[in-house]
Amino acid sequence: MKAPITVSVTGAAGQIGYALLFRIASGALFGPDQPVNLRLIEIEPGMPALKGVVMELDDCAFPLLREVVPTSDLNEGFRGTNWALLVGSVPRKAGMERADLLGINGKIFTGQGQAIAKNAASDVRTLVVGNPCNTNALICAANADGVSKDRFFAMTRLDENRAKSQLAQKSGAHHSDVTNLCIWGNHSATQYPDFTNAKIGGKPVTDVISDEEWLKGDFIKTVQQRGAAIIAARGASSAASAANAAIDTVVSLVNPTPAGDWHSVAVYSDGSHYGIAKGIMASMPIRTLTNGTWEVVEGVPVNDFSQGKIDATIGELLEEREAVKDLIPA
Ligand code: NAD
Ligand code: LMR
Repeated sequence: MKAPITVSVTGAAGQIGYALLFRIASGALFGPDQPVNLRLIEIEPGMPALKGVVMELDDCAFPLLREVVPTSDLNEGFRGTNWALLVGSVPRKAGMERADLLGINGKIFTGQGQAIAKNAASDVRTLVVGNPCNTNALICAANADGVSKDRFFAMTRLDENRAKSQLAQKSGAHHSDVTNLCIWGNHSATQYPDFTNAKIGGKPVTDVISDEEWLKGDFIKTVQQRGAAIIAARGASSAASAANAAIDTVVSLVNPTPAGDWHSVAVYSDGSHYGIAKGIMASMPIRTLTNGTWEVVEGVPVNDFSQGKIDATIGELLEEREAVKDLIPA
């Protein structure tokens, strides 16, 4: 029997938590022969609901689930953790942009970064889902003294999945035939879903979908605004699809990327890729290697149209960083 992998989830009693925990416990992250421990973190007001979630986890009698620890104590919550999934934070409401949450949510990630540094396993990796996730991840990484910045990620996989679905629907292909779809930049309305390098059934999207006006217009806008459209329709932000994307992200970061493809996740920019400024968490084309490390895929063509879009979303990330500079130790 393999040693369990410990996964910490913040905001565990929230709506994404409810869609996420049962899938983790059933083996969706690491496969059918890998036991898992869950450390579930909530703020005090969330603890009664979390107790109910733990009762439901018990009642599933998952074969792979070992220990479950519900807690509002960050040290206990991140103790020995291998994967920290930081979901806990306030979602936006209709009419807000995700960056409007920075003042409310940003400060959560200083203490969490410190607690991860102090308590987590030496191989810890952290995925931030709570919005605005790129800049929250930057705050977290900056406060996790001693943990390498390449171990922090922010989620843009939901955007990638949304973009693949839109391209599939437009072309009549199946979404699993859409590859090489990179989301550049911020998980926000400035993100750039790069159709210029995406493929459908191995062919360039632009060979399959001749409607360039749609690709440059409605396609990009639909992906950029999808989170708001879901809030308008559901009265609450996306949850099941967000949980699914968090699982996809971890799976893509622990397994080698299929040859020739890439996946989207925001990583700490060291300033050496695609002219993207150093010191922000920017989504780029990422490849996971056989040893579980990752690299930025080099040589993805960036034409003038793409460059303009990438510049805009990177500019927004720089503005967000400026707005939280007090939370980022020098
Ligand atoms: P929710 O309100 O249903 O749940 C959030 C939970 O977090 C609550 O139970 C709350 O008690 C808890 N919480 C708040 N502050 C906390 C803290 N400091 N520590 C631990 N727990 C804390 O919200 P949700 O729908 O689950 O969404 C959570 C976050 O995920 C939001 O910020 C939302 O915008 C974001 N989100 C991101 C993506 C993405 O693609 N990156 C997609 C969907 C949602
Ligand atoms: C999403 O993309 O669905 C989430 O980031 C929630 C939101 O505020 O849009």
